[in-house]
Amino acid sequence: MADGLAARAVGVLLTAEPAAKAAAVRRLLDDWQAGLVDRQQPGPPVPGRPARPARPRLLPPAAMPRRSRAGSPRARFALLHALAHIELNAIDLAVDLVARWGPAMPPAFTTDWLRIADEEALHFTLLSGLLAEAGGCYGDLPAHDGLWDAATATAHDLEARLAIVPQVLEARGLDVTPAMIARFSATGDPAAAVLARILADEIGHVGTGNRWFRHLCSESMSEPAARFRMLVERHFRGAVKPPFNDSARRKAGLTMDWYAGLGTAGAASKP
Ligand SMILES: [Fe+2]
Ligand SMILES: [Fe+2]
Repeated sequence: MADGLAARAVGVLLTAEPAAKAAAVRRLLDDWQAGLVDRQQPGPPVPGRPARPARPRLLPPAAMPRRSRAGSPRARFALLHALAHIELNAIDLAVDLVARWGPAMPPAFTTDWLRIADEEALHFTLLSGLLAEAGGCYGDLPAHDGLWDAATATAHDLEARLAIVPQVLEARGLDVTPAMIARFSATGDPAAAVLARILADEIGHVGTGNRWFRHLCSESMSEPAARFRMLVERHFRGAVKPPFNDSARRKAGLTMDWYAGLGTAGAASKP
């Protein structure tokens, strides 16, 4: 019997090489959309962490080297490398949602998150292209090893996962990307167009997270903004800090009442 959805998604998570992972996502998306993948067939256990290539070396956040001077070619390369690393993790974050919850959720949930995984793979590929044009590749610099922590902390709770990963962490990307685009545009850097594409797609990812979060809230008859704030206070170690890109957040369904002032009360006491 052909592998079902959960087994195929686990197969993507266990694929270490980014190009092979991206190709596996595309095959799974195509097969899923062609109706060739059994949604409910039980699969193997979902790994606690996805497989990673031999390079880059993964370092604890505190051990990461300091950024070089902003505006230098080295700083540019380091920024694009860090973004590529985030996108590689983002592929697995979307696929992990499918592996854990795709079988039990409506089929549209899997379609949404596999499409998003495919977009994250495109983002990784576009950034890798910029690294190659600069004479290097993903793996040349050490990378931050804390990006899977939020997934680990919410591995058994879809509602908490949808609150934290798309609606706190990916939403943070909406806040910080416009300034990067402006800096790259000012010098005619082709990275500006890549980041503009990523920003447009990420509004959709946050919006999809928001939509499925609201779906769960309607099933449990809870008020979404209050529920979101409660889950973030409980599961997110850190403050949800301004400045916010309020217009991009609003397009994604996150109005200010969801995030204003969030995390500030307990931030000082959180490690
Ligand atoms: Fe992305
Ligand atoms: Fe994303």
